[in-house]
Amino acid sequence: MDTIVADYVEIPWQRAVISVDQFTKPDITEIFSSADRLSVSRTTPLGGKTIANLFYEPSTRTSSSFHAAMTKLGGNVIPINEVKYSSVSKGETLEDTIRTLECYTDGIVLRHYDDDATERAVSVSSVPIINAGNGAGEHPTQALLDLYTIQREQGQIDGLTVTLMGDLKYGRTVHSLTKLLRQFDVRLQFVAPDELRLPRTYLQEGDTEHSNLRTAIAHTNILYVTRVQKERLPGAIDIDCDYAVTSEHMERARDDMALLHPLPRVGEIPSYLDSDPRSAYFRQMKYGMYVRMALLVAMLGGA
Ligand code: NCD
Repeated sequence: MDTIVADYVEIPWQRAVISVDQFTKPDITEIFSSADRLSVSRTTPLGGKTIANLFYEPSTRTSSSFHAAMTKLGGNVIPINEVKYSSVSKGETLEDTIRTLECYTDGIVLRHYDDDATERAVSVSSVPIINAGNGAGEHPTQALLDLYTIQREQGQIDGLTVTLMGDLKYGRTVHSLTKLLRQFDVRLQFVAPDELRLPRTYLQEGDTEHSNLRTAIAHTNILYVTRVQKERLPGAIDIDCDYAVTSEHMERARDDMALLHPLPRVGEIPSYLDSDPRSAYFRQMKYGMYVRMALLVAMLGGA
């Protein structure tokens, strides 16, 4: 396989969203202002435009929020949320599937289990591609919406202590968010079982690593929790994933802490915490739609 995309950071994100590395601080500010405006506007600048949602892995929030975002902006969506009902199940390559969908659409939102899938798609596509998760690699639009949630919940990003807990090894949302947060003056703390610690390449001087939340929660402004990415664990590895936020943790936490999770959760945040005003994961989903609206408008050339 000859991958033509040599250095994705050189590709403008308006052409293809591959990684959070493509976004500068002014880009982020502009996207967030646009999301603010779109959250209260009823304009339909993408009338007549169509995107395809091409998902090779399960999704609830990402696919439906892109769908809702596009529809609210006046556009249409071709949803291929279960590729086994498409020609993929007949053995069609990703490249041919992309070449097909570019004939009918103005952009393609792609989720795939391979880390190099977005770059392969970009190398053959004439329409914008949006990475909606590439294996254990990245999930840039999720990181943007996570950051937007932090901004909306705390009124600022600089000066915060952000604690990320869970599967930091295979969690692509953690990888993207960690990189994006490096553009701000934040203190990062990482809490994970030994087997699921953050890959060393994402760590920087000043970060702290913890094996349990108790020691990390007191000064935390944002607690970002993820599930174990079971589908990405190699072979028979059985991880003791017995970590969860408890009411005891929440008692030790700041009154103005915000608790985030990209969802789905599978036990890391018990539902009895949903009524705690600090639980922001349902608001986070709504903010996500506005951020995706802002990205779609910028990429598909709305008025
Ligand atoms: C995340 C993902 O797909 O990486 N989900 C999402 O997009 N909200 C997190 C996860 O599946 O654990």
